[in-house]
Amino acid sequence: MCGIVGYIGGEQAAPILLNGLTKLEYRGYDSAGIAVFDGREIRMEKVSGRLQRLKEATGNGAALPGTIGIGHTRWATHGSPSDTNAHPHFNKDRSIVVVHNGIIENYVRLKQHLEKHGYEFVSETDTEVLAHLLDYYYGRTKNPLSALCRVMQKVEGSYALGILFKDYPDTIYAARKDSPLIVGSSRDGNFIASDVPAILQYTRDVFYMENEEIAVLTRDVVSFYSMDEEPVEKSPVHIDWDVNAAEKGGYEHFLLKEIYEQPRAVRDTLSPRIRGGQIVIEELGMSDEEIRSIDKIMIVACGSAYHTGVMAKYIFEGVARVPVEVDLASEYRYRDPIFGARTLVIVVSQSGETADSLAALRESRAHGQKVLGIVNVVGSSIAREADNVMYTWAGPEISVATTKAYSAQLAAFYLLAMKFGQARGALEDSVFSEMLASLEKLPDQMEEILKNRESIQRFANRYLAAEHIFFIGRGIDYAISMEGSLKLKEISYIHSEAYAAGELKHGTISLIEEGTLVVAVATQEKLYLKMTSNIEEVKTRGAFVMALTNEGNKDIEKVSDFTLYVPETNRYFAGSLAIIPLQLFAYYVSLGRGLDVDKPRNLAKSVTVE
Ligand code: G6P
Repeated sequence: MCGIVGYIGGEQAAPILLNGLTKLEYRGYDSAGIAVFDGREIRMEKVSGRLQRLKEATGNGAALPGTIGIGHTRWATHGSPSDTNAHPHFNKDRSIVVVHNGIIENYVRLKQHLEKHGYEFVSETDTEVLAHLLDYYYGRTKNPLSALCRVMQKVEGSYALGILFKDYPDTIYAARKDSPLIVGSSRDGNFIASDVPAILQYTRDVFYMENEEIAVLTRDVVSFYSMDEEPVEKSPVHIDWDVNAAEKGGYEHFLLKEIYEQPRAVRDTLSPRIRGGQIVIEELGMSDEEIRSIDKIMIVACGSAYHTGVMAKYIFEGVARVPVEVDLASEYRYRDPIFGARTLVIVVSQSGETADSLAALRESRAHGQKVLGIVNVVGSSIAREADNVMYTWAGPEISVATTKAYSAQLAAFYLLAMKFGQARGALEDSVFSEMLASLEKLPDQMEEILKNRESIQRFANRYLAAEHIFFIGRGIDYAISMEGSLKLKEISYIHSEAYAAGELKHGTISLIEEGTLVVAVATQEKLYLKMTSNIEEVKTRGAFVMALTNEGNKDIEKVSDFTLYVPETNRYFAGSLAIIPLQLFAYYVSLGRGLDVDKPRNLAKSVTVE
């Protein structure tokens, strides 16, 4: 997501900050800014758009004197990309300035509290709350560290922070929780940064900050504190990665890094919307009565986003008893769809710029339909043009093949379907509570699966020369198969098809030969026996079957050649777990074949042409 850099030392800060931000460009951003303290005042420059504009506005930093400063590249979450919403953010008398990466979940409540105390807000960001809240507590404690600790006790959500106090001209304050932040130290000064590449040119000695830790940096000394203001002892780590590896956080490819970011992406998408045992989706803009009155949902999307729609159909229909149609956007826009009297159209898109999805949105609105966008990029075209938008908080995705945005879209659908189920009286309270408990466990279970990548790599290495691979499943497992198959063909160039397992015998089974790999997804308990029969059918024709099923399902293991297990969850959420081994499988096949994993041939991350 956003990128943070801070510097205090003997050199002019601004050029170092701009240079550091340039190294963080790969993280994705839509605006940038820096604040530098020249001993008398804190000067700030911030612009929307590319970093180049910030460099031009400051003469490559020359216009901002001072040897202490903080900088930021923003990837919009709360509030569209604009000069005003760009970071840094000041308190009212410009004596405290803040940069922030993350999401302050309770910012609305905090904002109301501060407004009652006379604070005025100039931006739409959640971050501005932090500047005013620091002011509030600094006014009471007269101590920056105490003020910061009080703020950390009050805010919910994730943050990495860089802060300057005008009263402390030789100190940078920093803190983190669930957003990355490192501290670099060198003989010529000290640094904070979201990521190693930003400071690699200046130092390779890095302290990794833990959750709820505070760092206090002067020119010569770095000290760490807990939230109780107790000193914390830390040792630096010496980094020997090259710049290229550092951008990928030590992973070989962005795809692998993003696969590993999925628990975080899902957690960030879910947690701000789960409050006190309930699902709260303010941005839905619909009362329970409106939700009850909906007669049909139409989900429209392209690529992997379409696959989340296929999955969502099973979930909405099962949980909320509302009919759902799912369309590829390129088909929908020309098929003259029939809307009900109260149809909700949901357009799903990571980029928010996919031409067909945008056209489908416009087509729906031209017919007077209400459109909800499920979008990852804040301020994108689909986000702007939809009536309401529910953001997925996956953060910027760099690798062309989507992974973490797909998982975050599924998470958004789970929340919506459960919310609809409850509002429509289709979901009993006890079932709702059980589902919610399963939902909250999902990110941890995803982390468990990610620990076990070696066996998938070994298996993938046996299929590097495969010509065809088939994925089969029923119900939700069919939707997972579609995404598993797409991942494989996108990055490995192996021909692959996903088939509804019961449909195989109507044609595709003729393609099964001795040794053909068939990946059988079987996470839906009530369909185990049916899947067992389908596995037998392909095995009889020579297939080698890799089964992907829930822990404890030994029956499937008996009929399969190789079995991978995922932890048990509520049946509607199984896709979020089962997709991870399939993504890793695709990744390792692509890697083994020596292909360009992050930029596969002929594909684009955002398809803005028809
Ligand atoms: C491209 C990407 C896919 C993505 C699809 C839809 O084909 O390579 O990963 O699923 O576009 O993109 P969207 O941004 O609308 O989700």
